[in-house]
Amino acid sequence: VPDPHASAKVAESIERRWAFLAVLLIASTIAVVIFTGLRWSAMPPSRVETISPETLNVSGEFVESNLGSAVEPDGSVTVRIVAQQYSFTPQCLLVPAGVPITFRATSADVVHGFLVTNTNINSMVEPGYIATFRTTFAQPGDHLMPCHEYCGTGHQGMWAHVKVID
Ligand code: CUA
Repeated sequence: VPDPHASAKVAESIERRWAFLAVLLIASTIAVVIFTGLRWSAMPPSRVETISPETLNVSGEFVESNLGSAVEPDGSVTVRIVAQQYSFTPQCLLVPAGVPITFRATSADVVHGFLVTNTNINSMVEPGYIATFRTTFAQPGDHLMPCHEYCGTGHQGMWAHVKVID
């Protein structure tokens, strides 16, 4: 006499297998979320330093009097820039040729970007983070520094100059 529950047993074992696969899928999805969350701490240097966009102009590194180019004790130059709708402060950056330059930029409002024409300098500028970029300009010249991240109706008019002097 055939077992009247045979087909039910087969169905049950198949269902159990699929339930296991579903749990495996959910567990691996959660594992990916946790892994990428922990990996946040290993993001590029431009994303590690944080800063409060609300108090930028009141205190700290990015107060207006501290913006622009500054010579460090080791002879290198640090350039500090604040991006806001729809301009960079300062509008013109003066840097020497043949000297290591560190750009440090942050945003006072929304996501902006900056690139320096004819160089590989290219970074996003996000509120809450300090974007850093190191470079050395080989020769004097004038470069445009447009915002390359759509930031609102005035985006296309948002740019600065970089003047590399001897
Ligand atoms: Cu700032 Cu586009």
